[in-house]
Amino acid sequence: MNSLSTKDLYVGYYEKNIITQMNIQFKSNEITTIIGPNGCGKSTLLKALTRLIPHSKGSILLDGQSIAKENTKKLAQKMAILPQTQDSASGLTVGELVSYGRFPYQRGFGKLTSSDYEVIDWALKVTNTFDYKFRTVDSLSGGQRQRVWIAMALAQETETIFLDEPTTYLDMAHQLEVLELLKNLNQRQQRTIIMVLHDLNHAARFSHNMIALKDGKLIKAGTSEDVMKKDILQEVFNIDAEIGRDIRTGKLTCISYDLIRG
Ligand SMILES: Nc1ncnc2c1ncn2[C@@H]1O[C@H](COP(=O)(O)OP(=O)(O)OP(=O)(O)O)[C@@H](O)[C@H]1O
Ligand SMILES: [Mg+2]
Repeated sequence: MNSLSTKDLYVGYYEKNIITQMNIQFKSNEITTIIGPNGCGKSTLLKALTRLIPHSKGSILLDGQSIAKENTKKLAQKMAILPQTQDSASGLTVGELVSYGRFPYQRGFGKLTSSDYEVIDWALKVTNTFDYKFRTVDSLSGGQRQRVWIAMALAQETETIFLDEPTTYLDMAHQLEVLELLKNLNQRQQRTIIMVLHDLNHAARFSHNMIALKDGKLIKAGTSEDVMKKDILQEVFNIDAEIGRDIRTGKLTCISYDLIRG
């Protein structure tokens, strides 16, 4: 079971700290969604948690050990990340790209085993991208491509999966499909999911916990019921929100909102 926490964490670029003095305890085997305005540091936090960028002060502990000292392949066996923007996959086929998710398990010359191929096909199937296996990634639509990158993260078979705005580019049905997939991975395989979403209603519907950030600071962490509140949304987004219950799911939902002017 991966337990992840930050202690007095500072993360920044060059001399400037973006994330300041952040203390968070992520719940293992649950879904946690980070929310907050553009530029508040959500992606910066996710990148630091997965060691794509270093942190400047404080610590990030995974199973009680600082991630700063962890072996790269070992870390990649524990956590996968879907970044907010992906590099171009110039010329690679979908199958080839998704096979990169198996990198942490390869030894020597990096030959894929039959079990690697099974995992790759599983990841393609659950993301509904199996039909594109032999097409180049560049030839896909934005939404198709997004699901292929999600497949690559899933092929990494990690207990913890980080996703930075995984529903970007996806139509309404595919957004729900991806979120249902993450929910199933959590429920059936006890995966820990830590993601960033801008859609607060999706966040409240699919997450056990929410973390609200503003200006690089933690404003509120708790269950979705604790965070999806009028006063918190006002503080974080400067919006006047009407919160009610979704008639189908029973979850908290933002029925209507307006900007607070003046
Ligand atoms: N590589 C970088 N170098 C310098 N500053 C950066 C870099 N990446 C991000 N920043 C700055 O850090 C701040 C936080 O950016 P970050 O990408 O974490 O925001 P975010 O909360 O993910 O926003 P969004 O909702 O728009 O994705 C912003 O002011 C941004 O301009
Ligand atoms: Mg971001």
